[in-house]
Amino acid sequence: MFDDPLSPSWTPLLEAAWQAREHAHAPYSHFQVGAALLTTTGEVVAGCNVENAAYPVTLCAERGALSAAVAAGLRPGGLVAAVVVTDVVELTPPCGACRQALVEFAATLPVLLANRTSRRLHHLENLLPHSFTGSHFQ
Ligand code: THU
Repeated sequence: MFDDPLSPSWTPLLEAAWQAREHAHAPYSHFQVGAALLTTTGEVVAGCNVENAAYPVTLCAERGALSAAVAAGLRPGGLVAAVVVTDVVELTPPCGACRQALVEFAATLPVLLANRTSRRLHHLENLLPHSFTGSHFQ
């Protein structure tokens, strides 16, 4: 299913991510990003980047989607797959902060990067190896 970047299983996530991207608030970078998460309860939750005049306040699409998913009931272990879409040639991987935010909820997670013409499948454990988690101080 989510081990093949061309699987039709990705379609609902891609559609949700592209749709959310339309709502990106990116007046400073003009770089619009959409993200979508699939949960174990079958929900697809999307997010877009939300920039701010105070630049560090900017929220990435991935963390926007994650926040919405948690508000809808997501708990650790409840993620199935993630998608990040941008309309540029080079595919956009999640930033370091977003990788760390995602690993709180999924030790392993297929993460599909896509633009209008290409896709590449990564796995969170490879994007953020040796990650710091709550187990390190429990
Ligand atoms: N951005 C994301 O939303 N996700 C990423 O994976 C990389 C970067 C946003 C943040 C900012 O609004 C813009 O892209 C430029 O960094």
